[in-house]
Amino acid sequence: MGHLLIDAARGLPVPRTPVWIMRQAGRYQAEYQAIRAKHSFLEVCHTPELACKVTLIPRDLLNPDGLIIFSDILVPLEAMGLDLDFIAGKGPVIANPVRNAQDIKRLRLYDADVATKFLPDAIRAVRTAVNDEYPVLGFAGAPYTLACYAIEGGTARHYHRPKAWMLNDPTSFDRLMSKFADAVVDLLSAQIEAGASLVQLFDTWAGNLMPHHFEQYALPYVQRIIEQLKRYNVPIVYFMNGVSGKLHHMVSSGADVIGIDWRVDLADVRRTFGQRIVLQGNLDPSVLLADTKAITSGVADILKANGTGPHIFNLGHGITPTVPVANARHLVDEVKRLSAV
Ligand code: CP3
Repeated sequence: MGHLLIDAARGLPVPRTPVWIMRQAGRYQAEYQAIRAKHSFLEVCHTPELACKVTLIPRDLLNPDGLIIFSDILVPLEAMGLDLDFIAGKGPVIANPVRNAQDIKRLRLYDADVATKFLPDAIRAVRTAVNDEYPVLGFAGAPYTLACYAIEGGTARHYHRPKAWMLNDPTSFDRLMSKFADAVVDLLSAQIEAGASLVQLFDTWAGNLMPHHFEQYALPYVQRIIEQLKRYNVPIVYFMNGVSGKLHHMVSSGADVIGIDWRVDLADVRRTFGQRIVLQGNLDPSVLLADTKAITSGVADILKANGTGPHIFNLGHGITPTVPVANARHLVDEVKRLSAV
């Protein structure tokens, strides 16, 4: 069966703009909180039945045009030998971060169908549950963003360490990035083979790089991943938080869809790159904290800024924990209503 979201990702004509929300399953939902009250975050990720159940929450509450599998970009780092935990109020913490060339050797490459089997298993469970009514979206972190967490050992304010490393010792940094690129290809291949109809690469922290550093130290690995996944003929979204100054490089990544944050004007991006490029985004997630009238006009503004080019509606970054579910629902409903011709 054809899916609106997948057709739009391929740049095919669609009767209305498809919509999904980054982090659409999560803490802003009571149903998610109830599951988390009984299971840790990683337990949910590691248990296909739970991950499947959480993936389906947004279907019932929001009815978006695609269901992103519930997991985390950092989950593969565990399989590579990093000791990962999620601590309430602090976020991810890695007890044994990668700090030198010796640590890179320690990182194991693994078979995603074995070491992270729970992830393709969760995708298969969702596919069975939705009976092809919704496409399942797979994802992975892009190598630079994975390197940021692996090197810092958690969330940092500036990510100084990965930058200093790549400039001081580009040879070992390349070895690290290549390892992550290989792991991501394997992980996304396993997700596609399990039934993901689209995959997104999250490059949350690449927006923090100077454009020419991005081009030299991060982009080649994204290009390598996309090149190796082309054989599946599944659309690939490349999302960055902070695309400003790097859009030309992102377009040269070879991705089918470019996911943009809200700090750039969608109309400007269209003017620069034309009507053929497929764009995803880019409403400021904070708009969901305003009233429904503001959400409606936020949606209308984005649709107008995009014009007639192929577009997948999304926020410019993940939804935040204090958003009322009714507001998220209103967003999805309004995209469907206002974009239908
Ligand atoms: O989009 C979805 O609904 C799928 C699930 C998903 C999660 N994380 C669930 C999650 C996806 C696609 C991610 C991606 C992810 N994870 C990114 C890239 C996108 C982005 O937001 O920039 C990053 C950087 C991470 C790393 C990560 N995971 C951080 C920094 C944190 C802690 C901060 C926070 O928001 O809690 C997480 C935890 C996390 N990942 C939660 C969820 C629902 C919250 C865990 C909980 O306490 O229940």
